[in-house]
Amino acid sequence: VLDDPEISDRQFDLLFDELLEIEKQYPALINPESPSQRVGAPPLSQFEKVQHLIPMLSLEKSTTEKELSDWIDRCLNRLNSKTRLSFVCEPKIDGVAVSLSYREGVLQRASTRGDGETGEDITNNVKTLKSIPLYIDRENSPPSFEVRGEIYMERSKFTAFNNIAKKAGDKQLVNPRNAAAGSLRQLNSEVTAKRPLTMFCYSLGALEGDWKPKEHKEVMDQFSTWGFRTNPLIKTADDLGEIMDYLEKIASLRSELDYEIDGVVIKVNELLHQQTLGEMTRRPRWAIAYKYPSEEVSSEIVDITFQVGRTGAITPVAHLKPTFVGGVTVSNATLHNMDEIDRLDVRTGDFVLIQRAGDVIPKVVSVLHTKRPSGTKKVNLPSQCPSCGFVLDALEGEAVVRCGNNHLSCPAQMKEGLKHFVSRLAMDIDGLGEKLIEQLVDQQLVKMPSDFFELSFEDLVSLERMGKKSSENLLDSISKSKTTSFARLIYSLGIREVGEATAKALALKYSTIRELASLTIEELELLPDIGPIVASHIVVYFSDQTNLEILDRLIGSGVNWPVTLDKESPKPLEGETWVLTGALENMTRQDAKEALQKLGAKVASSVSNKTTKLVAGSSSGSKLSKAQSLGVQVLSEKELELVLSKI
Ligand code: IVH
Repeated sequence: VLDDPEISDRQFDLLFDELLEIEKQYPALINPESPSQRVGAPPLSQFEKVQHLIPMLSLEKSTTEKELSDWIDRCLNRLNSKTRLSFVCEPKIDGVAVSLSYREGVLQRASTRGDGETGEDITNNVKTLKSIPLYIDRENSPPSFEVRGEIYMERSKFTAFNNIAKKAGDKQLVNPRNAAAGSLRQLNSEVTAKRPLTMFCYSLGALEGDWKPKEHKEVMDQFSTWGFRTNPLIKTADDLGEIMDYLEKIASLRSELDYEIDGVVIKVNELLHQQTLGEMTRRPRWAIAYKYPSEEVSSEIVDITFQVGRTGAITPVAHLKPTFVGGVTVSNATLHNMDEIDRLDVRTGDFVLIQRAGDVIPKVVSVLHTKRPSGTKKVNLPSQCPSCGFVLDALEGEAVVRCGNNHLSCPAQMKEGLKHFVSRLAMDIDGLGEKLIEQLVDQQLVKMPSDFFELSFEDLVSLERMGKKSSENLLDSISKSKTTSFARLIYSLGIREVGEATAKALALKYSTIRELASLTIEELELLPDIGPIVASHIVVYFSDQTNLEILDRLIGSGVNWPVTLDKESPKPLEGETWVLTGALENMTRQDAKEALQKLGAKVASSVSNKTTKLVAGSSSGSKLSKAQSLGVQVLSEKELELVLSKI
């Protein structure tokens, strides 16, 4: 953890071998905290989903001093402008966010961020990271708490790993971030164990017990005391001036750091203020990311083509000589629209500057006009859709040109719509990548979303690069995705301008397609954040017979979502079976039972493989051990209170 070993590697290895020998002779002595338990878990067939008790949020972004100063003003306005705020500044690590949960000092589970609400259980993989404690002193730590942070691969380790892989003729890793993400997504933890990963911890998740830290800085210090790695460059700042100094300092250190950063995170230090400030959709108001201007490099345009998006929007794309920028090799960059092409005056054959920031699509920033070769031609908008040949008209006053053909008659719109349908925040079908969707459409196996649910093993196994196992797995995840939420289904339809938030707002009020389809523009406008344009897109979508037919088929093939009868009090625990055991301190078992039932959960008296969650009060006995042996998620009374209060 501290990179400062007290004994030599040789001494460590000898002690470790001795431990293994003892454990072999006396297996009863092996406990989950033993360092021998970091490796050797049997490979999984898939990752289990994990519901985060407290969502894992993302961050608002800023790129200028003005935006930071506005953020501070907004914080002060919401608090009391006389409040004295202090801040904590930290490098923003470019890795993979994970949450570690500890109970009675023992690491119980590690999960990915996922969509922020539901992640995946990657405990076996995370246990292989030597810098993550398997246990901490239970006398001096809360009975249950979550530590969150970023797992990443050090640059030096990444280079060394690739050098070895290269010599051995093995596959090399693309960049440190992908390396970390890919390593954590291994079903066989033996593979992860060979990848040099480590973690910086940066925040608390759920917490139970008497410890009531007052400041973020205090949390970081406590993490270090418990043996977690925290970034040594974390620093407090009292005002904008000090924050700006920090940004400058980190910018100058950036290239020397042994990890990749994509900016700095600035957080309000006082936890009470954090609580008062709260959050907006998926973003805390008490923190902001500052992103450094991204790297620009030059490249050459070999061609400019037009791509058709999900809603028919036609986007010009520059095809480049492959160029390494922002950590990956880029060969395409977006040119947005015809106005942008005119503004840049860009042509095939031009030398251009391109930029890529984090996960953003690379873009052409400017054209090096002095280097333009002779004989280049101005780019013209095609007169027909490049995918289906439909005649295009540029709409007056709109920069975006659209293919007006029906999405079922335009292969490009069809493919993009299907990709959206299966994507993570939509129906979340694992294993249906872009290439596979393109094959399915080209082979005419899938035209519309409902066709995914009609696919057979024979259909899949006949496709390129699909084996028996992967076909089975895919059928399995398609079938699992059928039970979803109404909000996800609405979002997955790809109605123009209907994003996640709008879909959620609709699902909160309505529960059937029939209801949605009967709404008028005026009724829709009564919902939060829905204006006349979004409302009319929704009405247009549901007045299209083909769309209604697709929806009918989806439901006919078994797509379903828990419906709550009383929309004013939704039942978020519908379909879950809970068991209560042991004595609760602040409520009776009966109260807890009724509260859970109100939220739609079934409350059973014994633990079985149908149990979703067990709430364990004090002196819980056999039910707890049974739940643990079945891998049922166990919650404490505090965590139960949290679930009840959140809903
Ligand atoms: S705090 C509620 N601190 O950035 C705020 N995040 O864009 C939680 N990240 O998903 C995040 N370094 O994976 C925080 N020092 C840091 C961070 C950090 C990297 C990542 C994190 C998060 C993403 C948000």
